[in-house]
Amino acid sequence: MATNEAVRWFMMIGFLVVSISQSCAYGKPEVPCFFIFGDSLLDNGNNNFLPTLRVNYLPYGIDYPTGPTGRFCNGRTPVDVLAELLGFENHIPPFATTFGLATLRGLNYASGTSGIRAETGSQLGVNVNFDRQIQNHKSAVLRIASILRSKESAMKYLNKCLYYVGMGNNDYLNNYLQPRFFNTSRIYTLDQYAAVLVRQYSSQIMTLYKYGARKFALIGVQDIANTTYAFNQNLVSLVEKLNADLGDARFIYVNSSSVTRSTSAGFKDYDTSCCPVNRLGLCAIFQIPCQNRSEYALWDSFHPTEAANIVSARRTYNSSDPSDTYPMDISHLVNLSLES
Ligand SMILES: *[C@@H]1O[C@H](CO)[C@@H](O)[C@H](O)[C@H]1NC(C)=O
Ligand SMILES: *[C@@H]1O[C@H](CO)[C@@H](O)[C@H](O)[C@H]1NC(C)=O
Ligand SMILES: *[C@@H]1O[C@H](CO)[C@@H](O)[C@H](O)[C@H]1NC(C)=O
Ligand SMILES: *[C@@H]1O[C@H](CO)[C@@H](O)[C@H](O)[C@H]1NC(C)=O
Ligand SMILES: *[C@@H]1O[C@H](CO)[C@@H](O)[C@H](O)[C@H]1NC(C)=O
Ligand SMILES: *[C@@H]1O[C@H](CO)[C@@H](O)[C@H](O)[C@H]1NC(C)=O
Repeated sequence: MATNEAVRWFMMIGFLVVSISQSCAYGKPEVPCFFIFGDSLLDNGNNNFLPTLRVNYLPYGIDYPTGPTGRFCNGRTPVDVLAELLGFENHIPPFATTFGLATLRGLNYASGTSGIRAETGSQLGVNVNFDRQIQNHKSAVLRIASILRSKESAMKYLNKCLYYVGMGNNDYLNNYLQPRFFNTSRIYTLDQYAAVLVRQYSSQIMTLYKYGARKFALIGVQDIANTTYAFNQNLVSLVEKLNADLGDARFIYVNSSSVTRSTSAGFKDYDTSCCPVNRLGLCAIFQIPCQNRSEYALWDSFHPTEAANIVSARRTYNSSDPSDTYPMDISHLVNLSLES
């Protein structure tokens, strides 16, 4: 038994030496780990295993090095580009297929059709809603505590990581705006719904805080038929409140309409999808997409092209416009030292 223990330690130190020397070869990332919570804008394969919307078929992934992966995009998502800007040697892998030591670099829990509310998107099948993404994170935290051999060292480690949360789009698209399936639009006005959503979101964020999260980027929702203004306003207020209440944590708001719709990005076409779409607005299977994907901002009916994701990720990381990120951009957020 003692021998097994020694062998395990020895192997673990070996792995750590290998991973540390690898990170030196590539330069150390600006944060030790990067955790991602969200919907189809960020999903990179978690839905591939679920009976719901999934896109692990061409033309999705046509510009991604390994082809279709489950990303709802022709190439990289905003968090892929951010991982590169932060100095990670690889994109952050999906929770569904990642085990063991790889957990230390962070995980992507995002699931297409998911939302803040548990029932959101359920008319399309089974997704991993935000509460379950947080449950998955809890199991990753336990994994990290066992790798680092104590809860205290795990918390210290997790305090330094970046937590990127983009939820809420489907609470409109696949809930409030689907009265055939959901009764929220009969129960709440838009203002009430925004308040109810952000209250629930706030308590979910506090659960992540309890699991050691301290540096948060909270992404505003897209402009969906003029229904989401109140949500984003409440989210900005939440960011202000959390920054005032929690001295040892920092929150930023990312204005997704400002970072994705900027006309200065110079796309030829902002409103037509690059691929031919099916009745759900996703790319029809095996259909040929537009020739030059860099000219289009929209890939299918809902999701930006890689070219647009590069523009928005760069503006989220290093913003030259104060309405992009508030009160600071990600390059400053990750640089903060937040000792309590
Ligand atoms: C709304 O629908 C949910 C199920 O989705 C149900 O539990 C709830 O009772 C309904 N509320 C009203 C006021 O109809
Ligand atoms: C959203 O609001 C703008 C300006 O108030 C208006 O021009 C546009 O038609 C509205 N769009 C929808 C889908 O209601
Ligand atoms: C987001 O950006 C848009 C466009 O720049 C701006 O009109 C809007 O006021 C911003 N929203 C917030 C909440 O800062
Ligand atoms: C594709 O479009 C981009 C942006 O308009 C342009 O810079 C590039 O030259 C085009 N590529 C080809 C192969 O036409
Ligand atoms: C951020 O962008 C500005 C120009 O907008 C540039 O001068 C600066 O070097 C960039 N900083 C980083 C860290 O990329
Ligand atoms: C981050 O911190 C380093 C070292 O303190 C400094 O050189 C760099 O300019 C900082 N970057 C930003 C964006 O504040």
